[in-house]
Amino acid sequence: MKRILLIGQDGQVGHELLRTLAPLGTVTGVGRSQLDLTQPDVIQTTIETIEPDVVVNAAAYTAVDKAESEPDLAYSVNATAPKRMAEVAQKLRIPLIHISTDYVFDGCKNTPYLETDATNPLGEYGKSKRAGEEEILEVSNRHPDFHYLILRTAWVYGAAGKGNFVKTMLRLGGDREEVRVVADQVGTPTWTAEIARTITTLTCQFLDPQVDHADLSGIYHFTNSGVTSWYDFAVAIFEEAKSLGVPLKLQRVVPITTAEYPTPTQRPAYSVLANQKIQSILQAPAPQWRQGLRQMLSELYLSNL
Ligand SMILES: NC(=O)c1ccc[n+]([C@@H]2O[C@H](COP(=O)([O-])OP(=O)(O)OC[C@H]3O[C@@H](n4cnc5c(N)ncnc54)[C@H](OP(=O)(O)O)[C@@H]3O)[C@@H](O)[C@H]2O)c1
Repeated sequence: MKRILLIGQDGQVGHELLRTLAPLGTVTGVGRSQLDLTQPDVIQTTIETIEPDVVVNAAAYTAVDKAESEPDLAYSVNATAPKRMAEVAQKLRIPLIHISTDYVFDGCKNTPYLETDATNPLGEYGKSKRAGEEEILEVSNRHPDFHYLILRTAWVYGAAGKGNFVKTMLRLGGDREEVRVVADQVGTPTWTAEIARTITTLTCQFLDPQVDHADLSGIYHFTNSGVTSWYDFAVAIFEEAKSLGVPLKLQRVVPITTAEYPTPTQRPAYSVLANQKIQSILQAPAPQWRQGLRQMLSELYLSNL
């Protein structure tokens, strides 16, 4: 039986992974209460005690705006912790799968971002996530026998976890007649179930001795397919929710500009990730973002009936 250590089991992606990784072996999931990522030595003892065949890290400091006022904490969780994970994994000769973000880019392109494109994060969250990628790459450069995979994804939402754009819109639409949403930032909403499915496929590859792990190592982009704005995403959320009979007070969704909705962190205006590289591993292209949304909402509401 293979052993998998899942760090961050209580996050929205981690919660899905706990379910999808289960058929591959014995999954030990840890959350903040078992493993505080600001304590690098505990990271080491946890991995050494569990002796997994692969480590999957779904934990992160994800409070994008708050990171501006507590950058040290963001770096500790998003850069120092993955560094220690990579070092311990290298020592134990096991691979590390880590999740990163579209926020490592500045959004100045107008065609989908490739894995090879230059990074230029705009805020402390993006900088700390990029620093985490660099720490992992640095361990790999020093030890070519260390195998890792960094999966960058974007605009994540799911049924589990503390909150996300879909849950916020549903709450606002239940309370208010009008919701104003930014229309000049575009990207690809990505359902946690799709991310978990993809990471499970990648974990399977790392557990397969027939697969060349050095060949597999690297940075990959993965999102659902298609492109939309936050405004169009919000409209779609309300349309799908209404079609499921969800009671909403909402009458209007009003498109606004980023300038009309100032936030502590500047977000990339264009956040679309190219998915071609990962298609060489996955059997089928990721579903369109709206299909993922429809499925997530049906599961959320139909399971509560
Ligand atoms: N959310 C997005 O839109 C988005 C977009 C692109 C990429 N990503 C990346 O996708 C990955 C998964 O994100 P997510 O959306 O699932 O995030 P999430 O729901 O915020 O989950 C993150 C998890 O990390 C845990 N964590 C934070 N600080 C910790 C610490 N000091 N010690 C131990 N655990 C700690 C949190 O614990 P608590 O539950 O106790 O707070 C939470 O369970 C992350 O790498 C993120 O950067 C996310």
